[in-house]
Amino acid sequence: MKDTEVIAEELVFRPLPHVVIEANVNPQEFATAQSAAAADYLAYWEDAAHELEWFRKWDQVLDASQAPAYRWFPGAQCNIVHNALDRHIATANKNKLALIWEGEAGDSKKFTYYELYREVNRLANAMRSLGIGKGDRVVLYLPLIPQTMIAMLACAKIGAIHCTVFAGFSAKILRRRITELRAKLVITADGFYRNGHLISLKTIVDEALMGDCDCVETVVVVNRANLDVDMSEARDMCYDALVRQEHSEAATEIVSADDPLFILHTSGTTGEPKGVIHGHAGYMVCLHRSLDWIFDIKPTDIFWCTGDAAWITGHSYVVYGPLIAGTTTVMYEGHPLYPQADRMWDIVARYGITILYTVPTVIRMLMRYGTQYPRMHDLSTLRLLGSVGESLSRDVWLWFYKNIGHSQCPLLDTWWQTETGTCMITPFPVSVLKPGAVHRPMPGVSIALTDSQGKSLPAGEAGHLVITRPWPSMLLGLYGKEELYQHTYWPLGIDMYWAGDIARRDEDGLVWIHGRSDDIMNIAGHRIANQEVENAFLTHKAVAEVAVIGVADKIKGEVAKAFVILQPDFAVLDDRNEVIRMLKNHVRKELGPVAVVRSIEFVNTLPKTRSGKIARRVLKASETGTDIDISLITED
Ligand code: WT7
Repeated sequence: MKDTEVIAEELVFRPLPHVVIEANVNPQEFATAQSAAAADYLAYWEDAAHELEWFRKWDQVLDASQAPAYRWFPGAQCNIVHNALDRHIATANKNKLALIWEGEAGDSKKFTYYELYREVNRLANAMRSLGIGKGDRVVLYLPLIPQTMIAMLACAKIGAIHCTVFAGFSAKILRRRITELRAKLVITADGFYRNGHLISLKTIVDEALMGDCDCVETVVVVNRANLDVDMSEARDMCYDALVRQEHSEAATEIVSADDPLFILHTSGTTGEPKGVIHGHAGYMVCLHRSLDWIFDIKPTDIFWCTGDAAWITGHSYVVYGPLIAGTTTVMYEGHPLYPQADRMWDIVARYGITILYTVPTVIRMLMRYGTQYPRMHDLSTLRLLGSVGESLSRDVWLWFYKNIGHSQCPLLDTWWQTETGTCMITPFPVSVLKPGAVHRPMPGVSIALTDSQGKSLPAGEAGHLVITRPWPSMLLGLYGKEELYQHTYWPLGIDMYWAGDIARRDEDGLVWIHGRSDDIMNIAGHRIANQEVENAFLTHKAVAEVAVIGVADKIKGEVAKAFVILQPDFAVLDDRNEVIRMLKNHVRKELGPVAVVRSIEFVNTLPKTRSGKIARRVLKASETGTDIDISLITED
């Protein structure tokens, strides 16, 4: 049998026989699951829930009476940490590696499930003695170190809500999150290593807490980099000193199914970030399914998701998912190119990684360095590859598939969002793969492609991607913003979750993602609203008006370009390069290095819509030389 053929002018890859034989879900089982889920999706998810341990089972699978505030498994009592950690201690997993962590400098730490359990319990006890308990928000401003995972699990264990802020965000953003959430506790580190540099973090926390930030009672500082940091006697505590005396057993808080587990902010079109809330029960049910069925976890796997723990990818596929599945998860602190472009392949070979889940921006970056780097290492342990965050173009897909997977590993391009919690549209290892397509919805997930009014479109036509049935790992809401939740995600009614993406289905029914329909950029896989960057520009006194658009970038996928009308005093300055430097620094200071502004153009006017809003799409169309598809525009 040929494993590659061209059908209807599309390149497809059929699953290899050994993959089909060994898969947790073979093609027949997949078909059965899909038709069972289509016939009764509640029974399907209930079956999935029965595979986990509960303190008390649910009264009902789904309560839709307050829709779109859907509540899954009402009446149930559980704790995700019981399934991710506690229950493994009574099984053969007890002495299995839960976490392999590697620092950028090559230092490493390994934790068995039992060791991780003890560390989590120590911190959980320490947090309880600091007065932190159920429902309290704890802000984590941490790099990719073991304590990040420990802190997340310790929060969950005591029923507190963890709120991670990515270490690439500025003091201003950190402060905004802390005050919005009224966090009593912040956990951070002195610093960390990235691309050969020592980056200090505690100083950013100090800056964020300056002045009248009255909610934070304690800042716990992990010693990662032996930096000499200022410690405020009344407020700051050293992590090691805090946990040293603590007992290594701690009771796991019994929480209700929809008690919040974490809040994670994501960019909204208005430029005002939204705190997406996820809970314990539904989230763990979908994660369990996705590790078992999509990532096909076996007892011998070593699972490496390269996402940062501070984003949803890391929450779901570095921390909770792999631990629920009882597999070994890998965390790497540093830069993929440090000290040279084979670092990732070196890690794969040394630990015998079997499943690698990464993002297109990293693949594109590594691709630029050529195949000599992967060829330096034995990558034969790999058996499954995955990607998330942006579309994989065909050339990038093929490069990854051939040079990293040696045409032996299914490559799963998974579509999902912070709000969906877990993978929604994805191939399975046994699927016939088409490079560039994200395949089909998971069993139990239903989607439609519609026009702006919600009318379904025929195959081949691009439209809005909506999810037509609730799913267990859906967001529970937006922190403090109930109305916004309804407007943002359910504008067409309670049975159409609005994803904000444009997509189409091809003649085989496979889904292709075209990009966002709203004004949100995807910079190296990070969602950043155009307006958020514009707001940052506007806080500089030189800027009178500004419009920001996303422009294509070979590595990052997209970067920001700004069109600026200067204030008269600044418009007369001769040294435009100096103004550009100043503005770029300013935006970096406001938002942090994640918001990459590649270029700034000075203009005298900006195109406006009839209602006076800046017409970014007109700028974008003239920048890219394309026509705009008016039918898909929802603003105005
Ligand atoms: C947005 C969600 C889910 C973790 C990472 C991002 C885009 C996501 C794909 C994919 C094309 C994708 C969408 C989506 N996206 N996966 N496989 N192909 N685009 O989470 O920050 O919440 O962003 O990322 O536009 O809406 P996020």
